[in-house]
Amino acid sequence: MSKFKWCFIGTGKLANHIAEEILASGRHEIVSCYTRNPDNGRAFADKFGCTAYEDAGDAINAEGVEGVYVVTPHNAHKRFVKLALEMGKPVLCEKPFTVEAKDTDELIALSKEKNVYLCEAMWTWFAKPANTVKEWIDEGRIGAVRSARFTYCINSINYAPRVADPRRAGGALLDITVYPITYAYRLFGNPVKIESRGLIKDGIDLWDEIEMEFSKGEKVRMRASIVDYKGMERMVIKGEKGRISAPFYHFGQRAKLKKSLFFGETFKGTGSGIGYLPEFDTVSSEIREGLKESRMVPLKATSDVMHIIDTVREQIGLEYPDLE
Ligand SMILES: NC(=O)c1ccc[n+]([C@@H]2O[C@H](COP(=O)([O-])OP(=O)(O)OC[C@H]3O[C@@H](n4cnc5c(N)ncnc54)[C@H](OP(=O)(O)O)[C@@H]3O)[C@@H](O)[C@H]2O)c1
Repeated sequence: MSKFKWCFIGTGKLANHIAEEILASGRHEIVSCYTRNPDNGRAFADKFGCTAYEDAGDAINAEGVEGVYVVTPHNAHKRFVKLALEMGKPVLCEKPFTVEAKDTDELIALSKEKNVYLCEAMWTWFAKPANTVKEWIDEGRIGAVRSARFTYCINSINYAPRVADPRRAGGALLDITVYPITYAYRLFGNPVKIESRGLIKDGIDLWDEIEMEFSKGEKVRMRASIVDYKGMERMVIKGEKGRISAPFYHFGQRAKLKKSLFFGETFKGTGSGIGYLPEFDTVSSEIREGLKESRMVPLKATSDVMHIIDTVREQIGLEYPDLE
């Protein structure tokens, strides 16, 4: 099987990390890239053996491109996804899909109109651990779920300048709170009640605390923060007949199902984190298969999560200024 040929839009921190991982597999190739600053584009091209273009359309249109990976800050996702879809190219776009749900829905409608593959790069759900937790719950292994608690507190405000920048839709909600929201949605569906509060400073939310109720009475609490480590990253789900817990649930390899003091089971993956390769392997084979959306991360999930995020943003009173 020939290597899958990608165009990268955005050549920042994550793009570099992913390029190293997928190229090392021998199953992927990056043929073109585009970024705002041409010097950065050229440096990426030199490092990973692709061609840098000063126009996004030219990069997308480069010979052989089979899929476009959009990995810019959040505010720029919509523009490049739209461009690629209009050019008839399949797209994998980083989370959060867009800044607002209406833009996500517009892009989904465009992908359907053009009949072109579109997918959110919500990597957690391309890998085995989260899907195993979902199977345990769907099979009733811990009985009816009563409550769950998710924390994702990582003090990441200085990870990249975009995280603290309101003009690039920075802050906790779109950068990290999107993970526990997606996790709860994937396990329990759309919430019937959402109550949120957050701390907003200098135009971004520094932390969010959210309580949700779901249709079968499941009560979920979550806290995500880009300025502290309170609670770290952990998930605990309590059911009538047991509990499931996992550290680093959005990328970790381990999840534990406990029925009693002595009975339970542990899902142990490779131990080194899920990595991004399962996502790129799956998406590239789905594109070659001719699918128009992913089996692992359906577009309805992306849209529903973005609508939940809209509600949370409204409840915490977060408004982005003019985006860049
Ligand atoms: N799935 C995950 O685990 C994960 C992890 C980290 C980040 N992410 C997501 O990945 C995306 C990128 O994050 P990052 O940390 O890599 O950010 P980053 O280091 O700031 O890189 C952003 C890249 O996008 C380019 N860019 C910025 N604004 C642009 C614009 N208006 N037009 C075109 N290019 C633009 C930058 O270009 P120049 O620097 O050349 O100007 C840079 O190449 C975000 O959506 C983030 O949420 C996901």
